Amino acid sequence: MKIEKVMVVGSGQMGSGISQVLAQTGYQVVMNDIKKEYVEKGIAKISKQLDREIQKGRRTEEEKAALLSRITISTELEDAKDVQLVIEAATENKEIKLGIFRKLDEVAPENAILASNTSSLPITEIAAVTNRPEKVIGMHFFNPVPVMKLVEVNRGLATSDETFSIIEDLAKEMKKVPVAIKDFPGFAVNRILIPMINEAIYAVYEGIASPEGIDEVMKLGANHPMGPITLADYIGLDTCLAIMEVLYEGFGDPKYRPCPLLRKYVEAGWLGVKTGRGFYVYN
Ligand code: 3HC
Repeated sequence: MKIEKVMVVGSGQMGSGISQVLAQTGYQVVMNDIKKEYVEKGIAKISKQLDREIQKGRRTEEEKAALLSRITISTELEDAKDVQLVIEAATENKEIKLGIFRKLDEVAPENAILASNTSSLPITEIAAVTNRPEKVIGMHFFNPVPVMKLVEVNRGLATSDETFSIIEDLAKEMKKVPVAIKDFPGFAVNRILIPMINEAIYAVYEGIASPEGIDEVMKLGANHPMGPITLADYIGLDTCLAIMEVLYEGFGDPKYRPCPLLRKYVEAGWLGVKTGRGFYVYN
């Protein structure tokens, strides 16, 4: 099967980044969200990013126009009727994702692959709501998508070797590095990264140091590009909490208990960069 046209469901931070990289690789992209203005906002984000590259002399106005012309706007999942692949990057909510996959299974061509960018939900469970579990797979990108090299290729119990190899090849074509991961809570990166962030928040909670202090020690002492508290704000504190809950519930191990301070921030609606306030305040 040759992939030419891809639907990306969800036009937020991840969906717009994935759409950008697909379009710059030469694919036709159907960018889908529940409202037209959400997709337009996603496209504006891509356009801004491309303008930065033009300013740096890495891209021309013509290339930008050609890239954007490969992206079309969609507000109906029915538009998946003529795509070979769907990458779902909708909100990280199980019921929403299962609903999307049920619908996609009805409307997408029989041989189309249905991938999910989920950071923590089980691929096997998502696949089970479709009639094509062998064609369901996780394709987990990292933020910012245009910069981060990794794609975790998360295989559900029923994912076929053929599906895996098509997605692995696509990731390489997108100039990413695919790594095969089994379908267990948090996959690999988030299983390691998010407990580290949770521990950093515990250190703040216990008064070991301020958020600035914790960030400083990890940047200067462990050579992290961004301190863990800044990174938590950047990922979204709600997402960090949701992933900790998945690890806690999935493994039943108290070492994964979410820090009460993280919970408190999420209860306050201080979710990080996206709400203008998390551990830090953003303009
Ligand atoms: N989109 C596209 N490009 C971006 C970008 C964005 N949002 N943000 C930064 N960049 C590019 C810049 O243009 C610059 O490119 P250049 O070097 O070619 O000119 C390059 O990235 C470096 O940017 P800056 O100099 O502005 O800043 P930094 O050196 O601090 O890099 C960073 C920014 C790449 C975000 C770096 O701080 C970093 O790697 N942070 C950690 C990111 C991380 O850990 N991400 C994973 C999160 S976990 C996740 O996504 C999984 C999910 O399931 C939770």
